[in-house]
Amino acid sequence: MSTATSRTAEQTDTAKLSIGDTVLELPVITGTENESALDISKLRAKTGVITLDEGFVNTGSTTSAITFLNGEEGILRYRGYPIETIAQNCDFIEMSYLLLYGELPTASELRTFREGIRQHTMIHEEMKSFYNGFPRDAHPMAILSSVVGALSTFYQDSLDPNDPEQVTISIYRLLAKLPTIAAYSYKKSIGQPFMYPRNDLDYTSNFLHLMFATPAGPYEIDPDFAEALNLLLIVHADHEQNCSTSTVRMVGSSDANLFACISAGISALWGPLHGGANEACVNMLQQIADDGGDVDKYVNMAKDKTNGFRLMGFGHRVYKNYDPRALIIKKACDKLLAKLQLDDPLFEVAQKLEEVALRDPYFVERKLYPNVDFYSGVIYRALGIPVQMFTVLFAIGRLPGWLAHWVEMHNSPSKRIGRPRQIYVGPTEREWTPIESRS
Ligand code: SDX
Repeated sequence: MSTATSRTAEQTDTAKLSIGDTVLELPVITGTENESALDISKLRAKTGVITLDEGFVNTGSTTSAITFLNGEEGILRYRGYPIETIAQNCDFIEMSYLLLYGELPTASELRTFREGIRQHTMIHEEMKSFYNGFPRDAHPMAILSSVVGALSTFYQDSLDPNDPEQVTISIYRLLAKLPTIAAYSYKKSIGQPFMYPRNDLDYTSNFLHLMFATPAGPYEIDPDFAEALNLLLIVHADHEQNCSTSTVRMVGSSDANLFACISAGISALWGPLHGGANEACVNMLQQIADDGGDVDKYVNMAKDKTNGFRLMGFGHRVYKNYDPRALIIKKACDKLLAKLQLDDPLFEVAQKLEEVALRDPYFVERKLYPNVDFYSGVIYRALGIPVQMFTVLFAIGRLPGWLAHWVEMHNSPSKRIGRPRQIYVGPTEREWTPIESRS
């Protein structure tokens, strides 16, 4: 299995920082895409001062060779390949190999990888009893993070993050079992029996089988559905140091087992400002449709700071241009709805909302564009995926990205436990007050 030759950033300049009487020279390092950063690793030791950057808007946590984003130009590449090229030429498993090992697999490497995953699609039979403990209306993201974390109780033979063989089998187990665990949460919610995986099917066809087949009769997989799902998983697969990936890296930096790290990533993704936005976006589109399709009203609400309403699926920390994934998904929406001869009113509302917002100075000035979550829900609906499962699909897509970053972090010679500093603003030292004297 080939592994990427990860490069390091080079020092290309020196910056001078003067604090009080000290003038400190800070190395300026530059990556392969000419992004530059101040290396402040000696700052506190030499000046006693730290940096502060809420939300890490200006702070890089690491160097990485996995994904490159250019937010100004709307560029996204996995291991140097543009997302558009990957979406046209790869299936999800081949792309997962690329993310994990840094190179496109040979036919033999891909066969081994595919077979390795297929051996692990079932979960331990006794794990199914977990589902009896959840209420019928449990959110599937809660079930996903719980059952994934619990994999560490059944697969205790692969918990050591520093044993390459245990890491490899954990990677196979997670890629193989996540669709099974996800589909079981859906079956539980509708009171249908769990289906066993079918290892004769490709990854997305097997997921559709797990979700929609029943023991009562044949289930025919629509190849257009499997193709659309494959595309959606690919465009969700990685996005450099986003909230959930940074969470996986942070938890992994303590040498926690891989199942625990992925469970933490799933929880971070659930938030409506992150992966949960696809579910929130479709609920917003439905609200607008139910409200007569009055998009101007909701655009104005989003501009009014007093009500906290935001256009879900709009805006991005990095992209200050159209999210390239949103473009790919929007085209796939058009194609699938036309093929199915479906007129989804929410797709109409979404296109109208986009048109109005992208003309409005509030959105133009802030460079707010549709992001990956804006159109994905329309496709999931066309595939018959229930709204509460949308973020679960995001998690299945994002898994190879989380895994690739976790491996890169563990393989880094400069790996250390993540432990940010802070600036304390609480009370300075004060005298104790006995309880009888407290008013
Ligand atoms: C994902 O990081 C990643 O890469 C994430 C992701 C991935 O693949 O991992 O791409 C996936 O999480 C996509 C984003 C999904 N979330 C949403 O669609 C929720 C709605 N969007 C936002 O809440 C917001 O845009 C964020 C959370 C995505 C980004 O937040 P930032 O970078 O902290 O920006 P901000 O909140 O500081 O907003 C800047 C300005 C503010 O106005 P001003 O204070 O300048 O007047 O833009 C406004 C915000 O009020 N704004 C919005 C808005 N998003 C930002 N106003 C209305 N509607 C919005 N959606």
